[in-house]
Amino acid sequence: MDWPANDNLRALGGMREEAVAGGGGQRVAEQHQKGKLTARERLDLLLDEGSFEEFDLLKSGRGNSLGERGYPGDGVITGHGTIDGREVYIFSQDFTVVGGSLGEAHSQKICKVMDHAVRVGVPIIGLNDSGGARIQEGVDALAAYGEIFNRNVLASGVVPQISCIMGPCAGGAVYSPAMTDFVFMVDGPSYMFVTGPNVVKTVTHQDISFDDLGGAGVHGRKSGVSHFIVPNDIICLRAVRRLINYLPSNNRQHAPILDLSDPLDRTDPALDFLVPPNPNQTYDMKILINSILDGAEFLEIQAHFARNILCGFGRLGGQTIGLIANQPAVLAGVLDIHASAKAARFVRFCDAFNIPLVCLVDVPGFMPGPEQEHGGIIRHGAKLLYAFVEATVPRITVILRKAYGGAYVVMNSKHIRCDINFAWPTAEIAVMGPKGAAEVIYRNEIRKSPDPEATLSQHTEQYRRTFANPFLAAQRGYIDDVIQPSETRHRLIRSLQFLEGKTMEKPFRKHGNIPL
Ligand code: HXC
Repeated sequence: MDWPANDNLRALGGMREEAVAGGGGQRVAEQHQKGKLTARERLDLLLDEGSFEEFDLLKSGRGNSLGERGYPGDGVITGHGTIDGREVYIFSQDFTVVGGSLGEAHSQKICKVMDHAVRVGVPIIGLNDSGGARIQEGVDALAAYGEIFNRNVLASGVVPQISCIMGPCAGGAVYSPAMTDFVFMVDGPSYMFVTGPNVVKTVTHQDISFDDLGGAGVHGRKSGVSHFIVPNDIICLRAVRRLINYLPSNNRQHAPILDLSDPLDRTDPALDFLVPPNPNQTYDMKILINSILDGAEFLEIQAHFARNILCGFGRLGGQTIGLIANQPAVLAGVLDIHASAKAARFVRFCDAFNIPLVCLVDVPGFMPGPEQEHGGIIRHGAKLLYAFVEATVPRITVILRKAYGGAYVVMNSKHIRCDINFAWPTAEIAVMGPKGAAEVIYRNEIRKSPDPEATLSQHTEQYRRTFANPFLAAQRGYIDDVIQPSETRHRLIRSLQFLEGKTMEKPFRKHGNIPL
């Protein structure tokens, strides 16, 4: 291209071209060969067309003690743009420039957009693809990570923070995404670990691949570090756009209303038959979720991790809600360590960002056994209890079937400041299941009986009739109404409308001490 005659203008043109080229043709080709898009291609897909405004294109590092020069742009592209017309701040690491490694200037660019995001009150999105701390910069690179960690924590609960892991993410670098609200991982090229396979081999003599140690499958299914497993860059960026649509831009705003033209008073007669007559028979809670939400649109978080509890976003009457539901189809919907921690973090996110909570309950209790007890189910279960009690957003619960013991109280019961509590006629609200209860209360009688089995079953049935229903709780006012299942959607929407102006005072404190 022909540059104008002015020297500075000509120089600027050249500098821009050099910075935009990143690591150059060969490295871009290698990036594509690995199935990855370049940092700029990713921005094009994530943001509304033509909306990206770049900062610090010309910023380069000071060079380093090994005598190497600085790199134009320093391996990261930063700025802001819009997603469906709403502003977001963004950084996109460029693996074609020194492996996207993070040094002083690279970090300063990221910190600048993070500071802007908090000041302006808009989400920050990080597209991570980096070899980690830039080795040549030594302790400056470590200090540079520290600056980002500070900002992750200070921005937490102020603006939504989203991380996409689209390539390597290793060492201490993993802690920045881990502190953000949502982590997407691209299945294949991405991995996260504190120490890589080589160190694992040296220390533990174990052979393990990058993917088996810290791939998207591992973090999406086993560790729970990642919230979304996505098959490629394109789907990842589309999914981020979808998530942003459910969220407010900051903690002082409400999420945007989106009218999906789904009638508010729509009923679903099939729901009257959802809960099977046999209490041991399972069913899929997603049938209810899809039935009640606007347009059957549910964005599930951590869909492959702790599947016995479902967490995600949907809309009711156009308004974003955070949905937490036991899943009877997986481990009977029991609360275990992973399920408690998963739901607790989700509840806290929603509460921080003014998103009302809807809780659908069918829970037999906390998972028994030494594995769970020794793993700290007391501590982890307490997280969920703590998170619900702390939440001041509008809160609604519907009990479908089992709500036993401590799990009844923990799952957003009236006793821990839930606003509206409904139960279906099929609800069983009791200290424990009928059989277990009969075994305890009538132990002596059963032992002495000539036919213990018959005596147990007779008392089980008697207990079921007396306690395993929603009516005692309704008589006490712990349940506000026993509702027709088919009308659940309408009742939830009316309750949300009614709760719109909810405010709650909190006593002064520096911060609470959630059992971590
Ligand atoms: C400097 C780096 C780099 C790094 C990669 N490069 N990582 N340069 N510092 N951390 C450079 C490579 O030298 C290479 O340059 C170019 O980037 C591309 O890297 P390749 O190795 O060719 O790519 P690939 O084969 O895809 O392998 C990617 C990789 C590997 C697995 C990430 O590069 C690697 O192991 N890098 C080092 C990772 C690491 O140990 N990082 C420190 C983690 S600890 P040339 O010019 O040769 O093409 C950490 C601590 C954070 O980050 C602490 C926070 C508190």
